[in-house]
Amino acid sequence: MRTTLTTEGSTTIEVPLLDEDADYPPSSAEVFFNPSQRVSRDITVAAMHVLGEGMSYLDALAATGIRGLRLANEVEGLEVTLCDWNRRAVELMRRNARRVGREVEVVHADATVLMRERSFDVVDIDPFGSPAPFLDCAAKCARRFLWITATDKAPLCGAHPKAALRKYAAHPLNTEYHAEVGLRTLLYAVACALARYQKGMTPLLSFSTMHYYRTLVRVERGRKKAYESMRHVGHIHHCHTCGYRRWQEGFCSPADVCPVCGAGLHYCGPLWLGAYKDDSLCEQMIGELEHMKCSEGAEMMRLLKEELHVPTCYDYHVMARRRSTSPPRMDALLERLRAMGYRASRTHYGGTLLKCDAPSELMCTLP
Ligand SMILES: C[S@@+](CC[C@H](N)C(=O)[O-])C[C@H]1O[C@@H](n2cnc3c(N)ncnc32)[C@H](O)[C@@H]1O
Repeated sequence: MRTTLTTEGSTTIEVPLLDEDADYPPSSAEVFFNPSQRVSRDITVAAMHVLGEGMSYLDALAATGIRGLRLANEVEGLEVTLCDWNRRAVELMRRNARRVGREVEVVHADATVLMRERSFDVVDIDPFGSPAPFLDCAAKCARRFLWITATDKAPLCGAHPKAALRKYAAHPLNTEYHAEVGLRTLLYAVACALARYQKGMTPLLSFSTMHYYRTLVRVERGRKKAYESMRHVGHIHHCHTCGYRRWQEGFCSPADVCPVCGAGLHYCGPLWLGAYKDDSLCEQMIGELEHMKCSEGAEMMRLLKEELHVPTCYDYHVMARRRSTSPPRMDALLERLRAMGYRASRTHYGGTLLKCDAPSELMCTLP
């Protein structure tokens, strides 16, 4: 395998030379490496800076080891373990650990076995595609924090309903807020996995990008905590005709018709209806990411921090199309909603998506 050196943050490691003509260059070498995940790794480093020292951290699917090695090198006092079942990846990780000059543990194992045998304060799951096969053992293994990446956005967003049913035991709907539905469906699956081990969760940071979701949850032990977190699981009834939606805790409620246009409502769920981020952590991370010169990450945290804690968002272009009118400027619409006495915000899901705490009946009559 031909390799080259790359630097992220203050960490330099050896990575495979990728075939840029391949269908998917990150998988073109014997060991996986995706340079475009740098922002995700910057955000991980920034969050671990804020959350503190003195914890053990497992990079369960480590590949080159870049994520865990950056944490070992850039965050004081983390005890890092890197695991992969690919022998070439493990050889590369060992060389990289020597190059970085930090003491890290490198384990050549099936991560699902390692996670059943040992536990760590922080567990990080960054798989190819879906994290579903790892959720159960990661939930067992994580003592304090759990990071999960999912690149299978299509099933989570409702574009592949059969895959969503198989992997997540859920029926996400493909709506104008499909990106948020996907994130909340992932959080539902994480909450269920933790609850089986009598653990609850508080999501601290969750975001959606073009290619992946990433979430960080605080793990809370005890039957009561598990029960409390499952109380945040609910469902949405959505009208595909006018965009009306309503949400409710619990797994189901009687089918109904849309109170705005009379069309049938469609079930979407189960999904997490609670908060998916901690605003003070987002605030602290803006400073950390600016300090790291990660402007993309800092901008993401700024948008996340401003985002209202309301399930579902509205695409104002779709709203305008439904009413056969041209869309107003986003700022003008937000101002109008605020002038009506509601809270309204942009979202990190996209430039045309907004959140508002006005009743859905009203939102369906706008703009
Ligand atoms: C997407 S890559 C990880 C990328 C890495 N976290 C990064 O930031 O560059 C997934 C890795 O998981 C490894 N893997 C997949 N299933 C595994 C398992 N059950 N146990 C251990 N490693 C596994 C693969 O060999 C691959 O290196």
